[in-house]
Amino acid sequence: MEIGSLELENRTWVPAMVPWRATEDGFVTQDPNWIDADETKVRAFLNDAPDAIIDRVLNERELESLRFGYRERVTDLHLPHVRELPRVLPGIFADAAHRGREAGFDGVELHYAHAYTMAGFLSALNQAVYPYTGQSGYECMPTTLSDKLGPFGRSVPLVARIKHAVNAAGFSTPVVATGGITTFEQAEAILQRGDADIVGLARQALADPDWFVKVKLGRGDEIRRCTYTNYCEALDQAHRQVTCKLWDRKQLDEPGIAMAADGRRRLLPPKWRE
Ligand SMILES: Cc1cc2nc3c(=O)[nH]c(=O)nc-3n(C[C@H](O)[C@H](O)[C@H](O)COP(=O)(O)O)c2cc1C
Ligand code: SF4
Repeated sequence: MEIGSLELENRTWVPAMVPWRATEDGFVTQDPNWIDADETKVRAFLNDAPDAIIDRVLNERELESLRFGYRERVTDLHLPHVRELPRVLPGIFADAAHRGREAGFDGVELHYAHAYTMAGFLSALNQAVYPYTGQSGYECMPTTLSDKLGPFGRSVPLVARIKHAVNAAGFSTPVVATGGITTFEQAEAILQRGDADIVGLARQALADPDWFVKVKLGRGDEIRRCTYTNYCEALDQAHRQVTCKLWDRKQLDEPGIAMAADGRRRLLPPKWRE
């Protein structure tokens, strides 16, 4: 089918989801032990040092960097390149999109969920330079634990409003609904109502990468359903290789499986046999 300038074979996909598998400079590797030993040793030393010593030397942000790895935030306005982001980012993104087109990609996704750059622009906590324009954080990656509505499709009404505004302005840029979408019925209803052009499933696709095939074959009862407790997200926040608690300790005696750097988790789920 055609949506805007895109030709799609189906209308579900996996949105951005960092799995901590690449090298430091962004190259793909199969090697789960890519972090170089020297840094690991230094971190191990610092991690083992008594808190009393470390707390005296490092501030709160530095402690977070030490324990979880350094991360820039859009609130780091003391950094000139961060302060300038709202002005320079559209150009950087446009250049990247051009390079993507030249490399043969059909499109790029501008992803506004959770804790990353674009979402930073939506945060109510940001300073005046980034005005608050919508919801972020919990609403983008809710868990079943914190509220009776659960994580299911909370952002769909907002996505529908965005899609209608985009279309009313005469554009056909595809708009993707993501966030707690887990069943075929949910995804189909969103598409049927015209609330979005495409449905994204991040955690559900991690819990069961065969979701798409199983749905297509009408074997939805065999899907491993995500429980939305954010075990995977906690690994991401700790800069550890992302796996799913529903399968990462299963069939560990399978020959030749790739294991996480901690040696306790498999990196890929057991194969589904049709
Ligand atoms: C482990 C993990 C890593 C993620 N990494 C990214 C990321 O690198 N960039 C991003 O914009 N969103 C990231 N997300 C957010 C997802 O793309 C998605 O918006 C969010 O999980 C809500 O969708 P879901 O309910 O289908 O999981 C990540 C989510 C998870 C669970
Ligand atoms: S770890 Fe939990 S929240 Fe993450 S994909 Fe698996 S079941 Fe879902």
